[in-house]
Amino acid sequence: MGENKSERKSPTSRLTSERGMPGAFEGETVSRRRFMTGVAHSAGIVAAASFTLPALGFALAPVFDRAPITWHPIGPFSGIPEVTYKPVVFTLVPGIGDAGLALAYVRRHIDAIDGPVKDRYDHVVALSSRCVHVGCPVRFSAASDTFICPCHGGIYDFRGVRIGGPPPRPLDRFYTLIRPDGMVLLGPRFSVNNELRRFSPRDPGEPVDGIGQYLYPSRFTTSDAPPGAKS
Ligand code: FES
Repeated sequence: MGENKSERKSPTSRLTSERGMPGAFEGETVSRRRFMTGVAHSAGIVAAASFTLPALGFALAPVFDRAPITWHPIGPFSGIPEVTYKPVVFTLVPGIGDAGLALAYVRRHIDAIDGPVKDRYDHVVALSSRCVHVGCPVRFSAASDTFICPCHGGIYDFRGVRIGGPPPRPLDRFYTLIRPDGMVLLGPRFSVNNELRRFSPRDPGEPVDGIGQYLYPSRFTTSDAPPGAKS
């Protein structure tokens, strides 16, 4: 009898009775202990997921929320100069008072300097006054047709392209639009490389020429380009 039992033992068998498990039922393939352990682990996973997944969703959803495109009126097209820049203050972030104001330098598009107009957002050139090194405000010098940053000596030419100092790319720009009634609107900010090709907005210190455009992608929360904008 004992000999028969040992003959029936097979550690690789699917049946618990044939693997010699104490208390095994005939035809059973999973022991009750293993089954109960599996049930307890599954219940634990479901319970943990029921409160961690919603919490993760709430925490991460805003990261992927693009800011809506907003347009800010800055005055009639007739008031935009042709051969120099005009500083305009506008509300970039509404609802937070002076902290939401920003300064841009605007002028009309000049084919001889800027090349052909890219699209309907390119009839007015609007440069951000924020230096792309670490963000100090730059000042336009009409005497030398350059933008000068007082912090570390960054210098940009008339188009906002860096010609000296540590800034890693040209000054950022804003999309502009001329309403049918002649009002000029400033839209989302964008970055440009040295050929003035448009890129999604980057933070100060981030180059967009060469491999830099891949090493420093824009943040998820920045606005998309307006519809039909070309690079
Ligand atoms: S912040 Fe403008 S050069 Fe450093």
